[in-house]
Amino acid sequence: MRLKVFLSALLLAAAPAVAATGEPAPFKAAGLSIGSSWYPEQWPEARWEVDLALMERAQLNVVRIGEFAWARMEPADGQFDFAWLDRAIAAAARHKIRVVLGTPTAGPPIWLTEAHPDVLRVNEDGSVEGHGERRQFSFASATYRGYARRIAAEMARRYGRNPNVVGWQIDNEIGVPSFDGEVRTLWASWLAKRYGSIDALNRRWTTEYWSQRYQRFDQIPLKSKGPQNPALILDYHRFVSSVWADYVGEQAVAIRAHADPRQFVTTNSTAWNNNFDQYLVHRDLDIAAWDDYVPGGRPDWVANALHHDLVRGYKRRNFWVMEAQPGRVDWAPVNRSLDPGQVRELAWQMVAHGGDAILYWQWRSALNGQEQYHGTVVGPDGMPMPIYDEIAKTAAEFASAAPLLAGTSPYARIAMLYSQESRWAVDQEKHSRDYDPVATMQDWYRPVAASGRTIDILPGNADLAGYALVVAPLLNIVDNATAERLTSYVRGGGHLVLGPRSGMKDDDNALWTQRQPGPLAALLGARVENYYPIDAGVIVAGASITGSAKTWAEVLKPTANDVEILATYSDGPWLAGKPAIVSRRVGKGRITYVGAIFDSAGQRAITDFMLASVRAGAPPLPPADGVEAVERKGPGGRYLIVINHAGEPAQLQLPAGARRVVGDLDAGTLPAHGVALLSLPVH
Ligand code: GLA
Repeated sequence: MRLKVFLSALLLAAAPAVAATGEPAPFKAAGLSIGSSWYPEQWPEARWEVDLALMERAQLNVVRIGEFAWARMEPADGQFDFAWLDRAIAAAARHKIRVVLGTPTAGPPIWLTEAHPDVLRVNEDGSVEGHGERRQFSFASATYRGYARRIAAEMARRYGRNPNVVGWQIDNEIGVPSFDGEVRTLWASWLAKRYGSIDALNRRWTTEYWSQRYQRFDQIPLKSKGPQNPALILDYHRFVSSVWADYVGEQAVAIRAHADPRQFVTTNSTAWNNNFDQYLVHRDLDIAAWDDYVPGGRPDWVANALHHDLVRGYKRRNFWVMEAQPGRVDWAPVNRSLDPGQVRELAWQMVAHGGDAILYWQWRSALNGQEQYHGTVVGPDGMPMPIYDEIAKTAAEFASAAPLLAGTSPYARIAMLYSQESRWAVDQEKHSRDYDPVATMQDWYRPVAASGRTIDILPGNADLAGYALVVAPLLNIVDNATAERLTSYVRGGGHLVLGPRSGMKDDDNALWTQRQPGPLAALLGARVENYYPIDAGVIVAGASITGSAKTWAEVLKPTANDVEILATYSDGPWLAGKPAIVSRRVGKGRITYVGAIFDSAGQRAITDFMLASVRAGAPPLPPADGVEAVERKGPGGRYLIVINHAGEPAQLQLPAGARRVVGDLDAGTLPAHGVALLSLPVH
C-alpha cells in the first residue's frame, strides 16, 4: 500500500484509547531487535495507533518507554497512574512491538523535589540543581533512593509478568555525581570501611607529604580532581563507582522481586564514560547496553568497533544499543547527518560485534522538548523522515537474520585489557598534555582490528584462560593480585604485551619501588630506567620493528641476560641507543614491554610482531581498507558479517563455502557502505 493511502486509512480508523483487555499474547524472543525510543506520554492517545502502525510497517519490533515519565506515572506522592502505560504496552503488543521499560528516575517530578529539597544534586562548586532539566537528584540521597526503589517496584509489580515487556532499563545515562552533605557522610564511612583506621589511611596515602595527616575520616575532603593526593583522587572515583553500583543494584533488586527472570535488567551507558567503573556498575545487571552516537556524523569505524567490544566485555556477553541516531544528534559542535546508508552500516556493525538490538533515539521530537533539532524517524507532522526507509530496510534484514543469529556471539583469541583505574591515575598526572588514555586504547586496537582479528576488551581482573595474546596498552596500576594473574598467564604459555606506564603504581595509586613494570619487572627481566615526555618524534628501529616514538618515551634496561631488545631509540639526548621495546620468553609464554607511544607505522609493526605469536585466529577475509568482517558463532552455526565502511566498492575474496544470506554482496563486490551476512560451513 502506498504510504499516503496507508496513513490516511490509519488516521481515519485511529481509535481513541483502547482499553487494556487481558494480557497480550507472548511472542517469541527475536535474536535481533530494532526499534526506537517512544514517548506515548507526550502525545494524544489517538495518535498512538498511527505511530505504532508506522513502526510495524517498518518491521520495528521494540520500543523503549517510560524513562522520563515519572510525573505521569506518579502524579502525586504515592498515587500511581499506570492505566495509560497499560494501554501503551497493549497497543504496542497489537503491533507486534515489544517493550523495554525504563525506570523514570533520571527525571524526578516537581512534587518530590519540592517536598524534599535535600534530594537535589549539589555540584562541586556548591551550586544546587533545580527542576526543568534532568538528573537533578543526588545519587546518594536515602530519601531519593527510597522513592526510586518504590517507583521501580511498583512498575515491576505491574509489568514484571507482562509477556510483552522484555526487559528493564534502570534510570538513563547515569553518571553525574553530587557533593551534598549526605554524600560527604557516606564518603567518610566508605573510607573508614576501606582503611579500618585513620593511621592505615595516613600511611598508605603518605600524608606526611605537605602535612596532610588526618585525624578523623570526616576531615577528608571530597574532591574529584587534583591537585590532591593521588590516593584520594583514585578513592574518590572508586567511591563514586560504588555509590552508582548500589544505586543501580537497589533498583535491580526492586525489579527482580516481581519480574519474570525472562526479563533482562540493564542500564544505558555512554561512550567512554569516565565518571565510574562500568565493570562495577554492571555487577548486578543481566546485560550491558550503551548509547552509540556519532556526534559529528563522520563515523570512525574502528573507534566504534572498539567501543562495542568494550561494552561486550562489561558482562562478557551480547549487549544492546539502547540509543542510536536516526541521522544526526543535536549536541555536537556541528550536527552533521550520517551519509545515506550509514545508519544501516552502523546497525550491522553493532550486530557484528555482538549487539542484539538497536533502538533509534527518538521516534518523534516532542513539540517543545529541549531536543527539537535532534534526528527522528518521523517528523513534527508525524510523517516518515527520509531515514525511515533505510531503517525499514535494516529491520527487514534483521527479521531474516534473527533466527540464524540467535544464540551466536563473536569469538576472540586476543584480549585487550582496559583498566578504568589506570585511566583515572594517568588523567590525574598526565605528565604530557598529549597523553590520552582513550586515544592510547584506540591506537593499539586500530591495527589489530585492521588486520581482521576480533578482540575482547576485558578488565584487568578478568580470567585470561584461552587467549593466545593479551595486550595491556595502559596498565598504570597493577596490584599484587593482577600481577599474579598476569604472571600465571605468561607461565601458562600466553603472550602478554604491556604498553608504556604499565606497572608504575600500586592499588593505592602509590609508586611501586621496583620502577616500572613494578611487580612484573622480575618476570620481564627488565625495568624502566626513566621516562621522558617528548615534543618531537624520535625514530625507533630494530630488526623487525621500526617507527617513530611520539609523546612518551621510556628507556628500558635489561636485568636478566635472556631479554631480547626488539628496538632502540635512534636519537634524543637521553634516548639514543637505549632500548625502547624488550621481550622475554618465559617457558612457553612471553612477556613484551613497549616503552613508547608510537606513530601508526610503528604501531603496525608492533602489531605484526604480536600477531606472529597468535597461531590460531587468522582473519576470515584478507584485510582490505575500510572493510570489516567479524564472525559470530554458536550452536546454530557460523556467520560472517562483512561491512564496507569505505566510500568506494570493495572486491572481496570470500572464504571457501561462504554463502550470502542477507545484504548487498554481488559477485564478490560489496558497494560503498554495503553490508552482507554470510553463512560459513561448520567444521
Ligand atoms: C542521550 C539521552 C537521550 C537523549 C539523547 C540525545 O543519549 O539518553 O534521552 O537526550 O542523548 O542524543
